[in-house]
Amino acid sequence: MSKQVKVLFVCLGNICRSPVAEGVFRQKVQDVNLQSMIEIDSAGTGAWHVGNPPDHRMSATAKRNGVDLTGQRARQFVRTDLSDYDYVLAMDASNRRDILRQDDGQGLEARVSLFREWDPDPGDYDVPDPYYGGSDGFEDVYAIVCRTTDALLRDLIARHGLS
Ligand code: 4NP
Repeated sequence: MSKQVKVLFVCLGNICRSPVAEGVFRQKVQDVNLQSMIEIDSAGTGAWHVGNPPDHRMSATAKRNGVDLTGQRARQFVRTDLSDYDYVLAMDASNRRDILRQDDGQGLEARVSLFREWDPDPGDYDVPDPYYGGSDGFEDVYAIVCRTTDALLRDLIARHGLS
């Protein structure tokens, strides 16, 4: 049976930001025993890393914080994700533009949001891309993802009456 709420995290490569969002959110959902209600996945708008595991620097940061990204493999965002997922959450504005370009007449724009719209301290609303930077970037991404997924989960529980 289809789960009640479906959430897809989307970045560019699906090896740094969206995999850690998927992993952290999955753990929080399990912690409150709602895994049968909420479906979770991630994807990248680009195809360069399809089939690859998450970036080792992102996996190491996640692991230090008790979150396991092992087993995740990158996949590319496809047009049908827009009809399959209730919440398509873009990590930054350029990801959002690339996603919306694939809507072409489906009228599903309302399903697409910036992930940091749920962040209590959203800054410029982009999760900074850590790929070409130093290790601080991965720590920053983790902190943003952690507090934003907390708020996202609280909102979904309230909005959809999940228990
Ligand atoms: P992500 O980071 O979008 O957070 O997965 C990136 C990963 C790879 C590349 C860019 C961003 N790349 O250009 O290969």
